[in-house]
Amino acid sequence: MKLKLVYSLRLLFIANLFVFTMWSLLLVLKKDAHSNVEHSNLKNSDDKDTEKRINKLKKSLKNRYPSQLDYIEAYIVKDLPVIYAVTPTYTRWTQKADLTRLAQTLLHVPNLHWIVVEDAERKTPLVTKFLKYSGLQYTHLNSKTDANYKLKADDPNWLLPRGVAQRNAGLSWIRKNVPPSTSGVLYLMDDDNTYSLKLFEEMRTIATAAVWPVGLTGGLKFEGPGSCSGGKVLSWYTAWKPERPFPIDMAGFAVNLKLFFQHKNAEFSNKVPRGYLESHFLTSLDLTRDDVEGKVEDCSEILVWHTRTEKATLKQEAKLISMGNPSNPDIEV
Ligand code: UGA
Ligand code: MN
Repeated sequence: MKLKLVYSLRLLFIANLFVFTMWSLLLVLKKDAHSNVEHSNLKNSDDKDTEKRINKLKKSLKNRYPSQLDYIEAYIVKDLPVIYAVTPTYTRWTQKADLTRLAQTLLHVPNLHWIVVEDAERKTPLVTKFLKYSGLQYTHLNSKTDANYKLKADDPNWLLPRGVAQRNAGLSWIRKNVPPSTSGVLYLMDDDNTYSLKLFEEMRTIATAAVWPVGLTGGLKFEGPGSCSGGKVLSWYTAWKPERPFPIDMAGFAVNLKLFFQHKNAEFSNKVPRGYLESHFLTSLDLTRDDVEGKVEDCSEILVWHTRTEKATLKQEAKLISMGNPSNPDIEV
């Protein structure tokens, strides 16, 4: 009887030990998978190391999104330059709709690292959750616009520059976390534009810096390089402040990471005249109009549009709230 009890106790101990070991292993694996998705960069320095990291990342993505194996397989490609896309974003009723459209475009783009920077004191639960389930390789940051430079609710849009502190936070993150030997490009993506997939393949091969026209900007059909030949920009199409060093929208250029790393002080500034955000950044990279390559079918095709989402007023919602009949506050829009 006594022997039987000892035997059972020993068996119980072994079983517990087994469960504990498996549980710890699971926790370690889970933690590893999570940090991989958020912070993995593709280095081109050590091939073996890169391959290991790619396989690990693929595995963790597959575990999380078993129904989307096809795009995950095509998502990380060895030896393909990485696109580092920096997107400022801020809280408003249409934010999740804009982010959804953008993220679902980016899901089709291999080797893209999305750096999303919230204009907020703290990272919001909405964006945190959104990114977690986006299926993208991302970094989530926040940087609040200084009160002196923040637009008030009723200010016209053009009064102050937008997205400056956030883009700079994204640039600092790249400087600190991306190995300078990484082959890739930097692209500044606003959260409300419309991007064609073809554009991403065009920008991957940029030697130093490249430009292309952006649809529906500057009160024109498009603005930026107007005609190009063999990669050379022959003329610029613009109506407003044509004397700007680069009469172009933020979505109309991308730069090679090497050039970016060579210019340690290159950044955006709030203190420039209206319409000079892009010109200031490009000239801080020591670029002139003669240095930039004209891309996209000799600048003749529009692959990105400066669209804007109509502001939601929610007047009826306010009415129902005042009548004591608010909608379910747990529903996130
Ligand atoms: C145009 C250009 O396309 C922008 O790249 C440029 O930053 C802006 O003008 C400007 O002159 O500052 P526009 O559509 O007028 O864009 O600007 P928004 O789309 O309202 O803002 C640009 C980016 O900054 C967006 O990604 C937006 O989410 C972000 N933003 C806007 C903030 O982070 N905080 C704000 O308070 C407002
Ligand atoms: Mn916009």
